Amino acid sequence: MDTNGSTTDKTQNYNENIHYAITHENMRLEEENKNLKRTVQFYQAELEKFRTPPFLVSEVIALPKEGQAVVKLPNQSNFLVQISNEFKSEINVGDSVINEQKSLVVMDTIELSKLFPIENYVIVNKNLKTSWSDIGGLSKEIEKVQEVLEKPLQNPEIFRELGVQPPKGVLLHGPPGTGKTLIAKALAKHTNATYIELVGSELVQKFIGEGAKLVKELFEYARKHSPTIIFIDELDAIASRRIENGTSGEREVQRTFMQLLGEIDGFNPLDNVKIIATTNRIDVLDEAILRPGRLERHIEINKPSEEGRLEILNIHTSTMKLSKDVNLEEIARKAVDFNGSELKALSTEAGYLAIKGNKKEISNQNFLDAIEIVRREEETHELLTHSFH
Ligand SMILES: Nc1ncnc2c1ncn2[C@@H]1O[C@H](COP(=O)(O)OP(=O)(O)OP(=O)(O)O)[C@@H](O)[C@H]1O
Ligand SMILES: [Mg+2]
Repeated sequence: MDTNGSTTDKTQNYNENIHYAITHENMRLEEENKNLKRTVQFYQAELEKFRTPPFLVSEVIALPKEGQAVVKLPNQSNFLVQISNEFKSEINVGDSVINEQKSLVVMDTIELSKLFPIENYVIVNKNLKTSWSDIGGLSKEIEKVQEVLEKPLQNPEIFRELGVQPPKGVLLHGPPGTGKTLIAKALAKHTNATYIELVGSELVQKFIGEGAKLVKELFEYARKHSPTIIFIDELDAIASRRIENGTSGEREVQRTFMQLLGEIDGFNPLDNVKIIATTNRIDVLDEAILRPGRLERHIEINKPSEEGRLEILNIHTSTMKLSKDVNLEEIARKAVDFNGSELKALSTEAGYLAIKGNKKEISNQNFLDAIEIVRREEETHELLTHSFH
């Protein structure tokens, strides 16, 4: 009996185990099946993407009659095209649309802000690295920038009541490595205004065919979210006087520039939108951008004086472990003609020398040697750039 009973028990147990294992295996296979299906779907969708021909993006410049549009392609040619029957949304002159490649039939509108999310250029004024205290030897220049940009933004009514038109923007100009970009960056941290940052050279390289539109979109955004400061770094990349050589790249830069001028003219000085731009080539800038009513205030950022050099050295060595014999006054005096960027290099170099010599502190001699190293590097660099020109 007993044995029989336990045999039945065993069989039952065995069956249960088998059942459990099979169910488990079933579930696992089902799950795997699902996964494989998802993978297949994913690759099918990917394949579909590769099979779909690219669409063109164009701009509607006229709507002569129902079902038709005149569009301007990025290469500037205009076409009269049909609007697809599938097209449901409203269409207006100035809209960006996508066109089928062969027939150029208008398939859909496309929001430019989706192509170039403006948010990528808007800097939120929090957690930014550069602050006013990171900039040495430029207190007067910084004061001017604040006066021109921030006062009218904070108290536009004072200007309105007095009937005074504040400048629309400032241009920081001067030799390379002197702190121009640094000033604009610090402004982003310390202002309460919306801050939009654009780099001239990027505008030219990244947005071929679309630079002008991006400028338009940005100014629209700026007006909507005012008070706003628009920072254009390396302005010379889009605003240089040029000999028209007729290449499409040139024309594109020219159009971006014209759009920029148009936008600057378009807003009122009291619109609460201000521009800060930088260049180290004011000599090549198109005068059109410097005229009154545009970037009329020019602030020169020069190489630092001896006193300025000391301030900058203090900033860049503030976190370094200096030995007692370090005399930064002497270093500042000897680093004749160094700009901010070279003074930073000098401080780093002194640090390296101490590490190389297995020292726990950086000595005055390290700094003196570093002056020579940075100076030699600069000379080689200059030699190289000159021989290439
Ligand atoms: N006045 C300064 N005070 C402190 N650091 C400076 C100063 N000027 C330059 N530097 C250092 O040099 C670096 C480069 O400076 P910045 O980018 O502001 O130069 P720039 O004037 O914009 O040059 P460019 O005309 O070549 O664009 C800064 O990141 C900073 O480390
Ligand atoms: Mg710069």
